[in-house]
Amino acid sequence: MTIKISKVPKTMRAAAIDHFGGPEVLTLHSLPVPVPDPDEVLIALHTAGVGGWDADMRGGWWPEGRPHFPVVLGTDGSGTIAAVGSRVRRLQVGEKAYAYSFNNPKGGFYAEYVAVPATNAAPVPESLDLKHAGAIPTTGLTALQGVDDALRIRAGDSLIIHGASGGVGTLAVQFAKARGARVLATACGADAVALLRRLGADVAIDGCGGDILAAVRDFAPGGVDAVLAFVGGKELTQCLHAVRADGKVAYPNGVEPKPRKRRGIEIIAYDGVPGVAEFKRLGRAVEKVGLKVPIAAAYKLEEARKAHARLAAGHVLGKIVLRIR
Ligand SMILES: NC(=O)c1ccc[n+]([C@@H]2O[C@H](COP(=O)([O-])OP(=O)(O)OC[C@H]3O[C@@H](n4cnc5c(N)ncnc54)[C@H](OP(=O)(O)O)[C@@H]3O)[C@@H](O)[C@H]2O)c1
Repeated sequence: MTIKISKVPKTMRAAAIDHFGGPEVLTLHSLPVPVPDPDEVLIALHTAGVGGWDADMRGGWWPEGRPHFPVVLGTDGSGTIAAVGSRVRRLQVGEKAYAYSFNNPKGGFYAEYVAVPATNAAPVPESLDLKHAGAIPTTGLTALQGVDDALRIRAGDSLIIHGASGGVGTLAVQFAKARGARVLATACGADAVALLRRLGADVAIDGCGGDILAAVRDFAPGGVDAVLAFVGGKELTQCLHAVRADGKVAYPNGVEPKPRKRRGIEIIAYDGVPGVAEFKRLGRAVEKVGLKVPIAAAYKLEEARKAHARLAAGHVLGKIVLRIR
């Protein structure tokens, strides 16, 4: 196996866990740098995204199989390609790339290096720097696929984006507007509502205290065409009441409690998926929109536990990231 490689050390710093627990179980480790297989790339990471699913995994939720400790968390990030496997042609050593690999077999993104399948990585869109690109692989793909694939939003559609001030929602608002939708977005608190207005929502309301149904009556008197939900619960049920007959509701798996079935409304659960075509479409959408990526806070790699404590405190407007280089 020939691997094209830039100068890569044998060991790296990584924020890893030796057992499940609270934010305090995230500690700095020295671990071997993963070696890429023929179809993989090694990325020298600049930024890693921090998501609620990382905290779930840290706390003991595991998608499949059993973890092999120490576990390096993190599903996405950005950096520079440091090595490519012998079969990789699409990405070059030295190129800036961003990537998404959920429960990555060779370790996650809270580290100086990550080895991922080349199809899970793509060149960074020109309009984004590494910090902002590293914040969006998971959230950007999930937001765009919710708008385009799950709901098939068309120009003129009326859409509620519920729970829109977080990592996925802040991007979904912008993608839905770019597809020509009329968007009513919900968030909690005046600062979050103001952010959604700045991101282009036609109407932004407080979904924690406000009357969602009253707002929808003005926005779409016959009911909305669709709902894209990033948080579950009784307010999401209110949103369902606001959907017209034959309308649609979509949510990415992970949103709890899930919306209950309702006669006359299609309910779609989906996952954000990476891939060559998926990243190309994301890249085009990022450029078309001039995507704004709200970053609520950035922490050093060795402060990963602080990042998780901040996540647990809630009211994160946009995304939390780790600064690795
Ligand atoms: N399956 C997949 O492929 C996939 C991929 C990505 C994400 N997901 C899932 O998608 C969901 C969203 O992810 P995310 O990273 O965007 O989460 P997030 O950052 O926590 O966003 C959720 C937002 O909803 C807001 N919210 C809470 N209650 C609300 C209410 N009653 N009305 C209006 N807004 C409310 C929260 O605001 P406050 O914090 O101020 O309460 C928060 O900003 C999560 O469940 C995640 O697990 C799934």
